[in-house]
Amino acid sequence: MKFTQTVFLLAMVAYVTADCLTTIISAAQQPSTATTPQPRATASTQEPTNQEINNRYVKQFSERIAGREKEPAEQVFKNIRWLKGVPAEQLLLIMNLGYSRALGVSCTHCHVEQDFASDEKRPKRVAREMAVMHRMINEQLKKMENLETKTQERAITCSTCHRGAINPRASGR
Ligand code: HEC
Ligand code: HEC
Repeated sequence: MKFTQTVFLLAMVAYVTADCLTTIISAAQQPSTATTPQPRATASTQEPTNQEINNRYVKQFSERIAGREKEPAEQVFKNIRWLKGVPAEQLLLIMNLGYSRALGVSCTHCHVEQDFASDEKRPKRVAREMAVMHRMINEQLKKMENLETKTQERAITCSTCHRGAINPRASGR
């Protein structure tokens, strides 16, 4: 076997191993959605998962706001209308593990990459409206008199409906 062929083969083996590892690790990190890992359709591109992309964005923002994590989001960021009073670091958690994971998207589904304060993208504006509906539902749940669940345990989240999908209506019809 020629030297170049050997190198190529070794590279392939390393690549496939790395790919399997990533699949296993990401499956292990998300036990709630852990299904049998599906073989990737395109073996030639090893794209980062949404979760990896989102963690990277959060890390960038965390570094940018270092020292001000506990301050209210509206003092640290430019365009906060709904999540006022929420500590800045918690806003980033809501964005990552709440909003993004619920819809199964990366940050840029809602945000303009160069300007997260911008409301230009429709899904970001939808998200604010969804947050209003979300609160209404939780308030109604609290008022109900015949549920067995304790009042404080009745709250739903974005995931209750979305379950990893952008449009929850599209999946179950
Ligand atoms: C489903 C849509 C959606 C996704 C996905 C999303 N965001 Fe947001 N983001 C919003 C909304 C809506 C606001 C404004 C909240 C408000 O008005 O209180 C916001 C505000 C922000 C802000 C404040 C920007 C400013 O200066 O005003 C940051 C920073 C941010 N998001 C980071 C992220 C990061 C990081 C991710 C990915 C991990 C992410 N977002 C994913 C909808 C989203
Ligand atoms: C009661 C169920 C329910 C809850 C709770 C809910 N959603 Fe939704 N959401 C929907 C439905 C249904 C749609 C699709 C509506 C349509 O297009 O007809 C949707 C659509 C969206 C969209 C539009 C996506 C796109 O790209 O067009 C965004 C963004 C969104 N939801 C964000 C959120 C966020 C963020 C939360 C939590 C604060 C949330 N939703 C909570 C039911 C829900």
